Amino acid sequence: MLAILAQAEKTLFLPPARSTMAGAHDGLYNFVLWMSVFWLVLIAGLLVYFVIKYRRKSPHDKPVGPTHSTAIELGWTLPPLILVMIIFVWGFRGFMNMNQAPNGAYQVLVSASKWNWAFTYGGGENDGTLHVPVNTPISLVLTSTDVIHSFYVPEFRVKKDVVPGRYNKTWFQATEVGEYNLFCAEYCGQQHSQMITKVVVESQEDFDAYLEVRGRWWKTEKPVDVGKTVYKDRGCAQCHSLDGTAGTGPTWKNIFGDERKFVDGSTRIADENYIRDSILNPGNEVLEGYDNVMPTFQGQIKDPEITGVIELLKSISTKYDGKILGEMPADPGDEADGGSGDGTQAQE
Ligand code: CUA
Repeated sequence: MLAILAQAEKTLFLPPARSTMAGAHDGLYNFVLWMSVFWLVLIAGLLVYFVIKYRRKSPHDKPVGPTHSTAIELGWTLPPLILVMIIFVWGFRGFMNMNQAPNGAYQVLVSASKWNWAFTYGGGENDGTLHVPVNTPISLVLTSTDVIHSFYVPEFRVKKDVVPGRYNKTWFQATEVGEYNLFCAEYCGQQHSQMITKVVVESQEDFDAYLEVRGRWWKTEKPVDVGKTVYKDRGCAQCHSLDGTAGTGPTWKNIFGDERKFVDGSTRIADENYIRDSILNPGNEVLEGYDNVMPTFQGQIKDPEITGVIELLKSISTKYDGKILGEMPADPGDEADGGSGDGTQAQE
């Protein structure tokens, strides 16, 4: 958050341009801005000048009303018309360009939900931060699982609404390696201001390596650590605390093994399957005292990630006294891992 503020302080205007279409965007923006400044100064100046020059100097001054002048009428009609047409053509070309990704662009699926971002790449790899190769056109297909959000990266000058029930498209081509803020620019509820993630622009080699690791990153970590990473990267932290503090959602502390009570009066002991269900079908059992606002992670989260969350929950629950997995269980459907397949919790 502080980093965002520090960055914002550097300029009164937009942050430095870091995409191929930012130039055209800024050119038009500056044209409109400085033209407005020019006319403001000219008109306000003339106004003051005329007020002084044509003021009534004595009680005997008889004002003479203006008469018709075709030249003046054309003068105040044609130049503004021409200027507005220039802005229209310039803006429309930019608008069309923003909507049409070049052929061969690398496609990333963007899924927004209250209040996190999920990005899915060509090989089914997914993540909560957006990684892209530098100097490569990236086409985005955006959709939402709940309300309207808006994808906004100020450095790229790209902003597109993300609407439930349809796919919106946009694209960009980043020109410099680095990390950029990605904001939600549409008010979408309580945690809207926290719906922030990063775009990591990297070399093609780094991006390839990233995808390689991303496809199976959990293999190199202990399940509890996988759970911690999921908690941080998937937006869980925005609603759930780990230390017992109340939030939009229940704290994760002491959930595992606890008897949970739902709005319909039913109860269930929070075991592995309960945790899994509440990640994939959160609307089925809504906890008493909470609203039905948790998004589903169906199709966005892989089984080993769910296992990680379960192990993390066990590790912070006094109601669980069993063993915590030291290693990720072998996944029989490893190669055909489709994300939302059946829950293969291997037995210990
Ligand atoms: Cu999503 Cu604001």
